[in-house]
Amino acid sequence: MDTLLYVDGLVVSFDGFLALRNLNLIVDSHERIRLLIGPNGAGKTTLFDALTGQVKPVTGRVLFQDHINLLGLSEHAIANRGVIRKFQTPSVFPDHTVFENMVLSSGRKRFLATLSARASSLDHDRIAEVLDQVGLRQHANERAGSLSHGQKQWLEIAMLLVQAPTLLLLDEPVAGMTRAEKEKTAALMESIVERSACTIMLIEHDMEFVRKIARRGHQVTVMHEGSVLSEGSIDRVQSDERVIEAYLGRGRVTAGAAC
Ligand SMILES: Nc1ncnc2c1ncn2[C@@H]1O[C@H](COP(=O)(O)OP(=O)(O)O)[C@@H](O)[C@H]1O
Ligand SMILES: [Mg+2]
Repeated sequence: MDTLLYVDGLVVSFDGFLALRNLNLIVDSHERIRLLIGPNGAGKTTLFDALTGQVKPVTGRVLFQDHINLLGLSEHAIANRGVIRKFQTPSVFPDHTVFENMVLSSGRKRFLATLSARASSLDHDRIAEVLDQVGLRQHANERAGSLSHGQKQWLEIAMLLVQAPTLLLLDEPVAGMTRAEKEKTAALMESIVERSACTIMLIEHDMEFVRKIARRGHQVTVMHEGSVLSEGSIDRVQSDERVIEAYLGRGRVTAGAAC
């Protein structure tokens, strides 16, 4: 079976504090969405930081698509290989229109080379298609700064999609969203993986949202204190005594926004 991501014995230290302790994780190529949950401070964001080159692990291996060692690559090189990441807070350009934001994102590499801000007609078609997918096509000419919080999050996801990711890393994409926006985002996740070859790795603390996605058969990984504590179907991890124990004192894992 093809392996998309192979994380082996990853250790990240912040001045001696081990944010990741011998973390092992395998995502197969046929998997479309992997959900990553765990109490606050478990190391979820640090894992994304390590995968995308923002922090340098002390030891361990990260192999992408069976052979590319991501740990040897710069942030830029990792993104060029198709590992694309969204941070927790939206970072769109507020004074540019939705469409301009998309052009800036889709042409990022080319702009660096040519300093040209013009999009080809191919880019136009692709941008329109992606905006349609995230429900923002009718807002294409509005200032990004005027969008709602949820719409900004979708715009940012759209800006990542035009970069044609192979592995899309999303860190708490529904934080601060309304219930209706969360519903739309859950449907968007499914539509992304149905329409492209992209695999999504998604950190989320909103358990209702996690359950909604996991119900479709996607695997859940539970992290705790820098390691993987449990893995499997949502039913399996939610009934795992170790998981329940890890969440005690912070509310039960079944109790909604518990992590
Ligand atoms: N840059 C940093 N410097 C020092 N400690 C950090 C840094 N980033 C994260 N940590 C610590 O590492 C642990 C894991 O953090 P994080 O990965 O953000 O957890 P999560 O995303 O699961 O809530 C926490 O204890 C956090 O305080
Ligand atoms: Mg985090």
